[in-house]
Amino acid sequence: MSQERWTAVDRFISDLIVPSDPALDEALQRSAAAGLPPIAVSPPQGMLLNLLARIQGTRTALELGTLGGYSTIWLARALPAGGRVITLEANLEYAEVARVNIERAGLSDVVDLRVGPALELLPELAAEGCAPFDLIFIDADKQNTPAYFEWALRLTAAGSLIITDNVIRGGALIDAESDDPSSRGGRRLHELLAEESRVAATTIQTVGSKGYDGFTLALVQG
Ligand code: SAH
Ligand code: DHB
Ligand code: MG
Repeated sequence: MSQERWTAVDRFISDLIVPSDPALDEALQRSAAAGLPPIAVSPPQGMLLNLLARIQGTRTALELGTLGGYSTIWLARALPAGGRVITLEANLEYAEVARVNIERAGLSDVVDLRVGPALELLPELAAEGCAPFDLIFIDADKQNTPAYFEWALRLTAAGSLIITDNVIRGGALIDAESDDPSSRGGRRLHELLAEESRVAATTIQTVGSKGYDGFTLALVQG
């Protein structure tokens, strides 16, 4: 099976069952035109985020890694009136693109976009009393995924969902001797989960337009 086929199947799924939303399409176009890397969640994955937030009844969400705001818009679209997404992005140029995309989607009042390294912004969020969040989407620099997961545990409550993107990276997470920081991040996340009784979790491997990767879904319990 080839990347070409995975991409074609993702397109089939998107064309038939992922609801079309001009603001989301334009967000991708504007991101590409501004030279952002093409690493946003795929449309079916964006729809999964949206469905998970609706299933969970999410009113408050936190996202680490905004890029052009594509996943942010999918999450924000899932919230009831009065809901809020806080999204953190280290790159000012990316954040400016996201700000336009979020504004054009009519979500400026729903999304609170903050610029800076997540590990600097998270203590501020905690001090502001924004927590607990109903849903946290971890999708920033992969080597810090374990640190972000520890933060996510502090910023959630029983019933919250923590979703972590890009934990498989072509299967590299099982290469114990790998010194690639991103792969090590995915591996370390699983070691943390193995010791963590506060969450029930699983990881699902995925193929699609973004290749072979996967995500971890963790439910905070008790
Ligand atoms: N969630 C986006 C994709 C995010 S890509 C989507 O699916 O649409 C990862 C993002 O994390 C990039 O925009 C990158 O600039 C950002 N990032 C990298 N290091 C970061 C850090 N330390 N703090 C916050 N964001 C970071
Ligand atoms: C990368 C980041 C992502 O969030 C993603 O979904 C795919 C790739 C990256 O930094 O390479
Ligand atoms: Mg990602």
